Amino acid sequence: MRRKVIAGNWKMNNDLNGAINLISGIKQEVAVKKFDAKLIICPPFTSLETAHELLKGSNIGLGAQNMYFEESGAFTGEISASMLKSVGCEYVILGHSERRTIFGETDEIINKKIKKALLAGLKPIFCVGETLDEREAGAAFDVVKRQVKNGLVDVSADEMASVIIAYEPVWAIGTGKVATPAQAQEVHAFIRAELTSLFGEKVAEETVIQYGGSVKPENAGELLGQKDIDGALVGGACLKADSFIGIAVNAG
Ligand code: PGA
Repeated sequence: MRRKVIAGNWKMNNDLNGAINLISGIKQEVAVKKFDAKLIICPPFTSLETAHELLKGSNIGLGAQNMYFEESGAFTGEISASMLKSVGCEYVILGHSERRTIFGETDEIINKKIKKALLAGLKPIFCVGETLDEREAGAAFDVVKRQVKNGLVDVSADEMASVIIAYEPVWAIGTGKVATPAQAQEVHAFIRAELTSLFGEKVAEETVIQYGGSVKPENAGELLGQKDIDGALVGGACLKADSFIGIAVNAG
């Protein structure tokens, strides 16, 4: 049985004080609520080190929202995998649709980042998902297949034990428009079938595939009750401790 994993993608929200307050709120909620899901928080770079200190002794995982694939050097503004490791990160979100659309990241770039993260001992949360136009054109499955395949080029079956995949239909991100549980389940099953053909059945069965896109406590139960939906990557609703933990509680 795959354990549910709920990750909070804070995006570009919360300065250091805001981060301290949100983490303290999350810890208070965790102390009084009952749930089985694994929690991960992904604050902005500027709060990672403090977050790591504040999370010590808890079971909450820490992740970054991006990184560059080179080790070091003249890459102004970029952050390396080893820098993330050095401030206590265990996870890193890669290939988020905002990185793809706003910052022009291609499947090839994302693949380089995934390989570098794995080499450095970071666990990628690898995001895929189609846009509204692509869904309406009947291309959702082709797009997701291409993103999964190209993103995981030269990743080994063993390394897949450290990869989480997040299916995030772009039209559902930050829009309040959620995929129906059946729509999401259909793509999750398709991704798992794709993983079977790439890495074999064992890897496919063990890989955590999260859903992302307007997840909140009210819809988490039904979405995460689907056979192939193993957790959530949460944006808006992770910025308040009670709704973030409410998702974990309702995740089952
Ligand atoms: P949302 O964002 O929950 O605000 O839709 C999800 C994400 O972008 O990871």
